[in-house]
This record gives sequence, structure tokens and C-alpha cells, in this order.
Amino acid sequence: MCASTATRADASRPIDVARPCYPIEKPGTDAIKLLVGGFGWIASVSSRGVKKASSVALNTAHIDWRSSVDHVEFLAKMKRILRPNTYIEIGIASGTTLFSDPIPNFVIGIDPNPAFESKVGSRLNAVHNSMIMRSTSDNAFAQLSSQRLLGDRKCDMAFVDGLHHCEVVLRDIANCARLSREHALIFVHDIFPGNEIEASRQPPNQPGSWMGDVYKVVPAIWQFLDWIPTVLVVDVPPSGMFILRTGGDIYNGIMKQIQNLEAAMASYDFASVMQEMRAKAISHSSRPLAAFIEESIGELPEGETAAQFLICSMMS
Ligand SMILES: C[S@@+](CC[C@H](N)C(=O)[O-])C[C@H]1O[C@@H](n2cnc3c(N)ncnc32)[C@H](O)[C@@H]1O
Repeated sequence: MCASTATRADASRPIDVARPCYPIEKPGTDAIKLLVGGFGWIASVSSRGVKKASSVALNTAHIDWRSSVDHVEFLAKMKRILRPNTYIEIGIASGTTLFSDPIPNFVIGIDPNPAFESKVGSRLNAVHNSMIMRSTSDNAFAQLSSQRLLGDRKCDMAFVDGLHHCEVVLRDIANCARLSREHALIFVHDIFPGNEIEASRQPPNQPGSWMGDVYKVVPAIWQFLDWIPTVLVVDVPPSGMFILRTGGDIYNGIMKQIQNLEAAMASYDFASVMQEMRAKAISHSSRPLAAFIEESIGELPEGETAAQFLICSMMS
């Protein structure tokens, strides 16, 4: 139930979605306008199988755009928007994100040590096709590729949340891209550690968060693979989200220069990288994020307009 009075977009406002980063737009009144504008723009220019909206009726009065969504809710919203058929997750732990609604038709979960709670067992049964691979991501991807376990199936959406070491995350991104269709999205977690202890290579001895040095993949990709469309989202607690859109040969783009990438990542300084990343990050409710996501939407159900679909997805 989303339709009401119309707020039409500022469709003339230019957006360069191919740029890897955008000025930050803090959620707030302006962000509300930007978001509505973003969806209106989506409605007016969407292409590639997304049905165009001729008039859009939206009621945004009761939405609190300023509230942040955590990574579980953010990913669930993205699943509602993108409706992936095939979803792959690296690092599944208790299955909270793997089995959040809506559950895609085909779900691949990779973790050497998954810790499913009993309530997840019933969720597992609800999935039409699921493949839980109890191994490291490197081993799982080797199996998936060499044995062609997926046949011609391509991944539509991936979430990278396994071992928190930057070189492993880079390989996870490369392997996810290899298994994905064009314009699929790869979400990378743990890219905004709170401090250097959380960002260390080894998990801290005391209780607390550990994000490792995953953050280093962001400047590495911007530096060496600036042709990959990316956005960096800051306000998705607890540690933000880095999103890449597939296209071209990302696998070889990463693997053929993996030594250069690793050498660069070893040299990055925490404070200066964080400063650059914070300056370039955007909000989860910003117009550039809406535009970026729109590029990856597949076919919409008959009769559903792009804007209505997106707004409904974000609200529900
Ligand atoms: C932070 S948890 C994942 C949380 C889950 N994605 C969620 O949001 O609810 C990280 C998981 O990565 C798994 N892991 C550790 N090393 C891994 C590796 N080399 N490959 C894949 N998963 C790994 C751990 O067993 C752990 O369950």
C-alpha cells in the first residue's frame, strides 16, 4: 500500500552513476527530497526490462528516512528490491542474513563452521533449493568452478562476510563476480571498523567487534580497478557496506594483479584510508544509492512501476 499524492522527481539533476564515489549526503530533510527525487528519476529513465512509470503516486509522509537500518535489514530490503533468483553468501554463521525474507529461489551459503540455530532449520526447509557448503570460501569456489556445480545458473546478488582478511575478501569478490550475471550486486560487509583494534589482522582478545582489515579492499579497488562501479554506504550499522556492480571481467581484473593489490593493501595507513572513505561515502537513503541500485533491477512483475516497487520495497 504505497500510492497517494504525487511528488515528481527533479529529473534534470545529473547523476554520474559510473563514478566510484559520491559526496556524502546525510539523511535528513534534504535526504528525503533527494530520495523521492531519486525514485522519480528512476521512474522516468529506467530501462533494461524495468517497466517505466508514466505517473507516480507516492505517500512518503510517514516514513522516517533518518533512521538507520542495520546490515540485516538493509540486505533484506535489497533482496526485496532486487528479487534475486540466485543468492550467494560467504560467512553465514547462524543464517540470519542468509535466510532473511524474502528467501531467493536458490541460495548458496559458504562457511567452514556454520552455527545454525534450531529456528533456522525450518527456514532451511522453506528454501526450494539451497546449497550449504561447509568449507572455506577458497575451497568452495574451487569446487563450484571445477565441477560446474551451478551449471548455467548465474548469481544475482552476493554478500561477502567470511574471513575478515583483505586478501581473502578480494578473492571472494573476484569469485562471486565470476559466478554472477552482468549487473549483479556484490555487498561487502565490515568496511568501516570503529578503531584500529577492530581493524587489526587478528581478532582482539577481549570481547568486542572485529572487522579485520576488510576496509583495505575499498581503496585497493578504487586505485587498481576504477572501472568497476561501486558505492560505499556509511550509515548501515555496525560497519557500513561496500557495493560493487558486476560487468566486464572482474575476476581476471583482480586475479591478474593480485600481487600488486596485496602489496598496496599492506602499505595502506588506517587513518588516511578512513578519512578518504568517510569523505566519499554516501547515505543508505541517498539519491546516488537509489540510482546505483536501479541499474541492477531485473524484470518487474506486470503492472508494477519501478518507483512504486522501490518505495514499497523500502517501506515494507
Ligand atoms: C561475521 S560471521 C557471518 C555473519 C552473517 N553473515 C550474518 O550477518 O548474520 C563470519 C562467518 O565467516 C565464517 N568464516 C570464517 N572463515 C571463513 C572462510 N575462510 N570462508 C568462509 N567463511 C568463513 C565464520 O565461520 C563465521 O561464521
